[in-house]
Amino acid sequence: MGEESTRAEADPLGGRGGRRTITQMVVVGLIASVLGIALGLVIDWFPTQRSTQAEKIDTFWDVLIICSVPVFVLVTTVVLYSVLEFRVKPGEEHLDGPPIHGNTRLEVIWTAVPAILIVGLVTYSYVVLRDIEKAPALAAGQKERVVRVFGEQFAWTFEYNEGGRRFTTAQLYLPAGESVKFQVQSKDVIHDFWVPDFRLKIDAVPGITTSYRVTPKTSAVGPHQIVCAELCGLGHAFMRQTAHVMTKPQFAAWVQRTSRAAGGGGGGQAGAAPDAKALFTNGSSATGATACGACHTLQAAGTSGTTGPDLDQVLKGKDPAFIKQSILQPDAQIAPGFSKGIMPPNYRSTLKPAEVDAIVKFLSDSTK
Ligand code: CUA
Repeated sequence: MGEESTRAEADPLGGRGGRRTITQMVVVGLIASVLGIALGLVIDWFPTQRSTQAEKIDTFWDVLIICSVPVFVLVTTVVLYSVLEFRVKPGEEHLDGPPIHGNTRLEVIWTAVPAILIVGLVTYSYVVLRDIEKAPALAAGQKERVVRVFGEQFAWTFEYNEGGRRFTTAQLYLPAGESVKFQVQSKDVIHDFWVPDFRLKIDAVPGITTSYRVTPKTSAVGPHQIVCAELCGLGHAFMRQTAHVMTKPQFAAWVQRTSRAAGGGGGGQAGAAPDAKALFTNGSSATGATACGACHTLQAAGTSGTTGPDLDQVLKGKDPAFIKQSILQPDAQIAPGFSKGIMPPNYRSTLKPAEVDAIVKFLSDSTK
């Protein structure tokens, strides 16, 4: 007994088990590290990579796993070993542990190893960051595509400036294979603009403009979810929209259509009356107005959404002025059992006045 405690004093790492326990601990630690790293690399953490930046970010993530799992295992095994080996034994309740007065070699090691690890990872992350933030190579006279992104409770709006024509949409449209720079702003509280398939995300902070660049891959053609990644209020979970990646000709055609439609003033597709039922059920892909029927039940349109009030009930006997206000200023009056800020506040910009009037008439007629 006496012999054992002297050994513990001489070598603070020795404990009661001595060298053999340390060897066992190292073996267990190595096996646990290898298993942990393998598990960390096998797990499919992210959706399919849909931007050129995504590959570098995912590789960086893998490197972080490889470096951090052994550190986690080391700390955990040392803690568990200490708890088992140095716990108070019967009869030792009034004793203090053996005094330990520093161990220079150990202190140098546990300062140097983490320092080298951190400097290495910081350098690597700086290199990755510089790489993914790089400005695109542009032909002479060509200007970088910039899309301004506005966050507000609880919707995103996107402002384009294509060939000198400015227009706003509620869904994001991007050409594949071309770099785009997002300039992100908030109209109220802090939001966070994130397209998981692209990997990058950044806070939308009131009063300042933040930005990042992304290049959707050509394999990205199709819809991708946009998510608000910062808790911003009751409707945070609903602050989700869609980024549509298109081929370059599709995008050019979309810009033509949308800038003309948004140009307003009676130009564009004159004549045809808006189809209110279609707008209600499907929304408008041209301007990105979200479909009313996705959240509202309305028998006349055959929709059964439950996120918002059942319109057959809440609009029964209401006059058109009330219905119009409910579309354009959703928070002015809230149906019992529902909350402010859930309904997109941007129909004023995503629907044309004639479309709003048509929907108001359709709703008024079908809920008499
Ligand atoms: Cu906006 Cu969460």
